[in-house]
Amino acid sequence: MPSTTANQQDATGTPQPGDTPRLELPSAELPRHVAVIMDGNGRWAQQRGQDRTFGHRKGAEAVRAVVTESAKLGLDVLTLYSFSTENWTRSQSEVAFLMNLYVEYLVRERETLAENNVRFIQIGRREGLPTPVLHEMDQVIEATSKNTGLTLALALNYGSRAEITDAVRAIARKVAAGELSPDAIEDTTISNHLYTAGLPDPDLLIRTAGEMRLSNYLLWQISYAEFYVADVCWPDFQVEAYHKALRAYAKRQRKFGAVV
Ligand code: IPE
Ligand code: IPE
Ligand code: MG
Repeated sequence: MPSTTANQQDATGTPQPGDTPRLELPSAELPRHVAVIMDGNGRWAQQRGQDRTFGHRKGAEAVRAVVTESAKLGLDVLTLYSFSTENWTRSQSEVAFLMNLYVEYLVRERETLAENNVRFIQIGRREGLPTPVLHEMDQVIEATSKNTGLTLALALNYGSRAEITDAVRAIARKVAAGELSPDAIEDTTISNHLYTAGLPDPDLLIRTAGEMRLSNYLLWQISYAEFYVADVCWPDFQVEAYHKALRAYAKRQRKFGAVV
């Protein structure tokens, strides 16, 4: 069935017990780039009488299902917001827990990423991240750099305003050095100086836990992304919930300012 997405059924076409749910959408109706604001870990834990950190642990486990499904569906890019430049204002113990969790995640997932032909990159500032996080991240970036499937961009120490500021500084340096004329600056010049340079803009932006705000995420890149808010907290965002978002996206009519 070339017109529908792969990996939705076994070789005989018969659903098997324990199969992952089937999406049944033509590939052409899928987004190329999905960006996710993985929110609600703390609330998920607190609703269960647990510490916020328990939610972060469950949240890290939930990442695998969405990454694996994105790879199976043949998406080009999945961008996951996992730590913002503003998240440093949280308690020292929560921040330390999260940094340890990133190290654990990067060590644990390296093999799964490789098996799924996923290319891993970071978007965000390196400065400020602890050395063990940078070290493990570089290992995964290196180990997956030749993979040709899904690009997984982990937004870690990411803030859109910081990203735009960094881009403006880099462009200004080129202008000051006489390498670039101010009149030659186009919107593509700006895109090419963002951390996401070379990636297509997100088509679909998903935020979990019901919040309807962007929280400094990909402000430039999401200009024409379709926005989908899921009520479930991130640890409960499994493949079925992801499919629901993808189906909602497939029904949207994108217009890009034109009359269609
Ligand atoms: C998202 O969950 C994870 C991070 C921001 C690191 P939260 O920790 O923001 O969870 P809530 O929003 O407080 O429930
Ligand atoms: C956005 O969630 C950042 C991440 C999911 C990593 P926050 O929980 O930090 O955002 P606010 O504080 O609700 O806006
Ligand atoms: Mg939150």
